[in-house]
Amino acid sequence: MTPASAASLSASPSQPAAAPGFIVLAGATGALGLLIAHHLRQRGASVRALVRPAALASAEAESLRLQGVEVVAVDYQRAADLTRVCQGAACVVSALSGLRDVIVDAQSSLLDAAVAAGVPRFIPSDFSADFTRLPEGSNRNFDLRREFARRLDKAPIQATSILNGMFTDLLTGQAPVVLQGPRRILYWGSPDQPLDFTTMVNTAEYTAAAALDPSTPRYLRVAGETATIRDLQAAAQQATGKPFKLFRAGGLGLLATMIKVTKTLMPAQDEVFPPWQGMQYLHNMLSGQAKLAEPLDNARYPDIRWTPVREVLAAQQ
Ligand SMILES: NC(=O)c1ccc[n+]([C@@H]2O[C@H](COP(=O)([O-])OP(=O)(O)OC[C@H]3O[C@@H](n4cnc5c(N)ncnc54)[C@H](OP(=O)(O)O)[C@@H]3O)[C@@H](O)[C@H]2O)c1
Repeated sequence: MTPASAASLSASPSQPAAAPGFIVLAGATGALGLLIAHHLRQRGASVRALVRPAALASAEAESLRLQGVEVVAVDYQRAADLTRVCQGAACVVSALSGLRDVIVDAQSSLLDAAVAAGVPRFIPSDFSADFTRLPEGSNRNFDLRREFARRLDKAPIQATSILNGMFTDLLTGQAPVVLQGPRRILYWGSPDQPLDFTTMVNTAEYTAAAALDPSTPRYLRVAGETATIRDLQAAAQQATGKPFKLFRAGGLGLLATMIKVTKTLMPAQDEVFPPWQGMQYLHNMLSGQAKLAEPLDNARYPDIRWTPVREVLAAQQ
């Protein structure tokens, strides 16, 4: 099946076509994308999910259909098809994840299609710490976002990026900061540097609300909780009822050296989040360079209840 025919056949006959003013969601089968789709539906929005043909039969695509989302297959290299599926949308939201071929190339195709289709608004897949003030070269994934942002800022479309710090959920998994076994909070630099955390669910809820809000500014900055390393210690103690000690592995210079060594030994250049990239993210946060500029925009949608770090750590027990 060609991508063009896939696009036209992908919505099942029983599937309602998205109503006018619908939201186009790219990357809807991803971890964040699925949550954004769910919260858009909760807010009564009509949603058209763009997926690559290979994902059309996935469990995620089926779950989207069950929620009343129209699932459409696209090839990001076919401009005319991409434009057609964007026609009539009120906003294009990207929750794509990847490296240059996705963050710059696929998102640029999506942006061009949104502009050609006359879509008024675009939300890129930023969802990160504040990369706007970081020096070029200090974080590969943030460089790619800034490169796309330069294109977005030149396009005749209203753009809104959502910056949310680190997903709080990572504290119980990939980010080795709260060490449950030895009951230590591992850090470099200062234990008093404020760090921004937002759960993936809160980020999705906020993105859904922003997608339906025609008057959003260029940047929206949110944090479910802004916590220092000492605050994380207190949160871990409250969540577990057990004492946690701080463990300072060294200064930020040592962390920078560790990043260089890890990158040399395990480059994994094709991976979106290899270990050195995660360490780089932590360095950007612990140095304060990627701290979200105040004031935060948490209160913009008052129905959202922000989940504190303590609750995420407690849920893991
Ligand atoms: N702040 C944080 O701590 C944090 C942590 C994790 C992620 N994030 C960000 O959240 C966003 C979403 O991440 P995620 O973890 O939800 O991603 P994910 O689960 O990996 O899913 C991303 C989606 O990207 C699409 N995709 C992947 N490669 C593609 C390609 N070559 N061309 C077109 N589409 C492609 C896939 O769509 P199909 O297969 O359906 O086509 C997939 O559904 C990203 O911006 C990511 O950086 C932030």
